[in-house]
Amino acid sequence: MSKASIYIETFGCQMNISDTERAASRLREAGYRLCETPGEADVVLFNTCSVRARAEQKVYNRIGEVRHARVGREPLLGVLGCVAQLEGEAVFEHAPSVRLVAGTRATDRLPALIERLRSGEQRVLDLGERLGDESWEVSPFERHSRYVAFLPIIEGCNKFCTYCIVPYSRGRERSRDAAELTDEVRRLAGQGFREVHLIGQNVNSYRPRTEAGLEGFKGATPFSRLLRALGSTGMPRIKFTTSFPRDFHPDIVAALDEHENLCDWVHLPVQSGNDRVLRAMRRGYSAADYLRRVDTIREARRRLSLTSDIIVGFPGETAAEFEDTLRLVERCQYDGLYIFKYSERRGTPAAGLPDSVPEEEKTARFQALEGLQRGIQSRLYRGYIGRRLEVLVEGESAKSETDVKGHTTCHKVVNFKGDAGLHGQLVWVRIEEAKANSLYGVRCRESSASAPTVSRGEV
Ligand code: 5AD
Ligand code: SF4
Repeated sequence: MSKASIYIETFGCQMNISDTERAASRLREAGYRLCETPGEADVVLFNTCSVRARAEQKVYNRIGEVRHARVGREPLLGVLGCVAQLEGEAVFEHAPSVRLVAGTRATDRLPALIERLRSGEQRVLDLGERLGDESWEVSPFERHSRYVAFLPIIEGCNKFCTYCIVPYSRGRERSRDAAELTDEVRRLAGQGFREVHLIGQNVNSYRPRTEAGLEGFKGATPFSRLLRALGSTGMPRIKFTTSFPRDFHPDIVAALDEHENLCDWVHLPVQSGNDRVLRAMRRGYSAADYLRRVDTIREARRRLSLTSDIIVGFPGETAAEFEDTLRLVERCQYDGLYIFKYSERRGTPAAGLPDSVPEEEKTARFQALEGLQRGIQSRLYRGYIGRRLEVLVEGESAKSETDVKGHTTCHKVVNFKGDAGLHGQLVWVRIEEAKANSLYGVRCRESSASAPTVSRGEV
């Protein structure tokens, strides 16, 4: 049978983007052709997210849209990822046109699963675990960017925060050996990647089965040792996300102080500023514990940019408890904040609690927090005007063909005048304008060596 063309559409987090890269690598190795749009593909796969109800609904809407656009020549449809893992057989009932349901650990088996369908099986379901010898290799051509690579260091989650579906959709924590990660970072450098994002639901819970690759690298936790090991590879920039506050050891900050290529950004989701709510969420820290971690981050040699996630309207959250969140945000002065309205997820412990905060109240709290953050961020962003920042040019700006865009080491988006010749380069940009979520500047002609960096206390 001649091999088919496949289109994969990805929803959700970086782990899903990374899984899609891996799935595409396996499918291409098996002889399939990957396409950029669903219009002509023989097989259309949706790699799904179920962290909130709205994300889950999206996939069913998209299945309807694709079927509508392809009436009379419908592709073979498959659902991958978190919705597939959680819903299993129910996906076939909910969307009878779907013929493949493959969970979060089935990525490497996709070629075989699709082959079974193309040989006549009507429906195929795989919710199994990863097999020990599966490959993490991703072809550079399948990566979402030519210059920034996502590198999963830990999969799954053992934390079981009461609102969260991830421990059920992604299973228990499994860490990759450091030797394999170090090799991969060196290989990525050779392939022209300038930045690596170490990804995982909780990167700082990293706990590999062996010492391999960590020998000779000191540190209070396996994660801070891994940071030192990868910081020594020569990769120009290394970022990591997400960090879990309870496991955020001060030695992480010490490792960042030692290696300039370990970037000046920490994403440390707090979820709430109130101790009763934090307990009900089972986060394992109090607001004071969290603020102690923030103080350590603020004492770093460089100014580290700090971002966070917050859920408003958790079951039983009172107006006074929400005020504690506002106070904490004021105190933390986040460089960026992702705000979510609580969304009940079936099967989680919090789903047993009455979803007591009315929708309008959740919206009001969302807006209050958003307004507070807008002010904080605007002041922080304006503080960059007149300063020089190093930018990795990742591509053309979304708004203007004559501009390019990229990120700073502190993970802020910067746009400036430039052409495709700059793509993939690290350049210095003088910031001239601050927008709500990005900076605008002009390229400096000086060499990077003579340009002052932003240090602690300057911004
Ligand atoms: N409702 C709302 N937000 C949620 N998150 C996780 N689960 C839920 C939920 N049930 C948010 C958390 C997490 C981010 C990735 O998504 O803030 O940090
Ligand atoms: Fe979900 Fe909590 Fe695990 Fe994060 S740490 S993925 S919020 S259970």
